[in-house]
Amino acid sequence: MGLVLKAVGAYVLYVVSRAVYNIFFHPLARFPGPKTWSASRIPYLFTLVIGQNSFRIKALHDEYGPVVRVAPNELHINDPRAWDDIYLRKDSEIRPPQWGMRPPGVESYNVISGVGSDHARFRKALGMAFSEDAVKEYEPTVRSYFDKLTTRIDDLITKNKGSAVVDMVKWSNFTTFDIIGELAWSKSYDCLDTGAGHAIMGVLSHFQGVIIAAAITYYPWINNALLAITPRSAFEDLKMIFNDGHERLQNRIKNGPSGHPDVLGHLAEYNKQNPTAKITDDEIEQNVFSCLVAGSECLTTAFSGALHYLLVYPSKLKRAQEEVRSAFSSEAGINATDAANLEYLNAVIEESLRLCPPLPDMLRRQLPSDAPTTIAGNVIPPSTVVSVSCYSMFRSAAHFSAPDTFAPERFLNSTDESSKWSPDSPLNHNDMAAFKPWGVGPRECPAQPLARLEMRLFLAILLYRYDFRVAEGSYLTKWTSQKVFETWQKDPLNVEFTQAASSMGASPPVAAP
Ligand code: HEM
Repeated sequence: MGLVLKAVGAYVLYVVSRAVYNIFFHPLARFPGPKTWSASRIPYLFTLVIGQNSFRIKALHDEYGPVVRVAPNELHINDPRAWDDIYLRKDSEIRPPQWGMRPPGVESYNVISGVGSDHARFRKALGMAFSEDAVKEYEPTVRSYFDKLTTRIDDLITKNKGSAVVDMVKWSNFTTFDIIGELAWSKSYDCLDTGAGHAIMGVLSHFQGVIIAAAITYYPWINNALLAITPRSAFEDLKMIFNDGHERLQNRIKNGPSGHPDVLGHLAEYNKQNPTAKITDDEIEQNVFSCLVAGSECLTTAFSGALHYLLVYPSKLKRAQEEVRSAFSSEAGINATDAANLEYLNAVIEESLRLCPPLPDMLRRQLPSDAPTTIAGNVIPPSTVVSVSCYSMFRSAAHFSAPDTFAPERFLNSTDESSKWSPDSPLNHNDMAAFKPWGVGPRECPAQPLARLEMRLFLAILLYRYDFRVAEGSYLTKWTSQKVFETWQKDPLNVEFTQAASSMGASPPVAAP
C-alpha cells in the first residue's frame, strides 16, 4: 500500500513539475495561449475527441491573435503567410508521428501515411491518374452517376405526385462513393441502385474513431494496453474492407477496365514507365482506399455545403439557377468544360468551400529538429508541431469581412465597387491569400481536377433540372453546430425537389445560416 501511495505521489509530482516547466521554461513559453493548453495536451485532445477543436481553436485566435500555443510543443497559426512558410518547406510532408498512421495489420504505406520517396512515388502515380487530361476522360462515367441520381429523384417525384424529399447528405454520399469506386477499380458500390450504403462506407467514414485512435497514440502506454486487450474480432471490419478491396483489384486485373478509363489503368501505366520505382499491388490497394475516403467524404461535404447555403440564401440560389438555365439549352448539353465558365456557379463553389471546407481541421506538420524555422515572421524552435486550419483561416474576420455570410460575390471579378465601402459588406475586405481549401505544397490535394469537375456537374445539373427548398416540416441545422472529426459530421439535409418550372419563385421556409 505504502509503495502504491509513493508511486502515485511521485507521478503527481512529475505531472505538476512537468506542467510548471511547460508553462514557464519550455522553448515555446513565450507564445500566447491558455495556460491549461500550454501545461498539458489534454485540453487539446479533449476538444478533438468531442468534435469541438476547430471551433475552440478559432476562438483562441480571436482571443490571443495569429499565433496560439495549443499544446506544450504545438503552435497553431492564423496568418496567410503561414501557408507557404509551413507547407512549401523542404520535408514539409512530414506529419507528427501520431497522425497519418497505418491501420493495424497493414504493412504497406499509402499517399497519406507515406513520406519521403514513398510519398513522392505515390504522388507521381496519382498525379497521372488525376491530371486534367485524365479527368476529362472520366467525365462520361461521372455524368452517368449524376444521371442515376436524378433518375432516383425523378422516380420519387413521380411516386409522390410532384415533389420528393431527399436527404442530400446521404444521397450525395451514395453518389460520390459510387463514382470513386467506379473510377478507381471499375466497380462501383451500387449505392444509388440499392438506395443503401455499402458495408464498407460505415467503417471507412468512422472519422471519430480515427481521431480517438490518434489521440490515444499520444499516450503509448494506454495505446499498448488497449491493443493488448482488444479482441481480434474488433478488427474484423477492417479485414472485411481489405478483403473487399483485394477482390476488386484482382477482378480488375483479370477483367480489365469496364469500358472506360480508370485510376488503376493510370497506375499500371505509371508502373510501366517507372520500372525501378513501381507501386506494388498492396500499395495500390492502400492508395485506392485513401482516395475512397478522401474523395467521397470531401465531395459529400462540398455538395451538401453548397446546397445548404443556397437554401439559406434564396436570392443566391435564384441567381445560380438563372445563370445555369440561360447557359445551357438542354440538360444533356451540360458539360464540365462549359460549366467551368459559369462565373456565378464557380463563385458559389468557392464560397461553399470557404464556409464548409471539407478538411476544416488542423493540417499538422512536424518542423525539422536541426534548426529553428521562421513562419509568418515568427522564429519557431526546432521540432515544434505547427498547423493551419481551413476553418480558422476562412472564418477569420481578419481575412474576410462578414466572414460568416455566404456571399459568392467575393469571388467574382467584377463587383459593385460601391458596396465595398461599407465595413459590414462581405466585399469590403477579402484576403484570398488566406483561402487554400486544397492545401499547399507536396501534400496538397492531388485530385483537384476531379473534385472541381464533380462539383460543377453536380450543381449545374441539379440547378438546371430542379427547383428546391427546405422540405416542409424540416429545418436546416446551423452548419457550424455540426461536430468536426477531421471533416464535418453532417446532419441530414432534407431537400424538397420539384421539376424546374413547376414551382418557380417558391420561397423556402426559414433556415439557419
Ligand atoms: C472539394 C473536394 C476536396 C477538397 C476541398 C480536398 C482538400 C484536400 C486537402 C486540404 C488536402 C491536404 C491535406 C494535408 O495537407 O494534410 C487533401 C489531400 C488529399 N486529397 Fe483531397 N480534397 C477534395 C477532394 C478529393 C478527392 C475527390 C480525392 C480523391 C479522389 C482526394 C484525395 C486526396 C488525397 C489522396 C490526399 C492526400 C495527399 C497527400 O497526403 O499527399 N481529395 N485534400
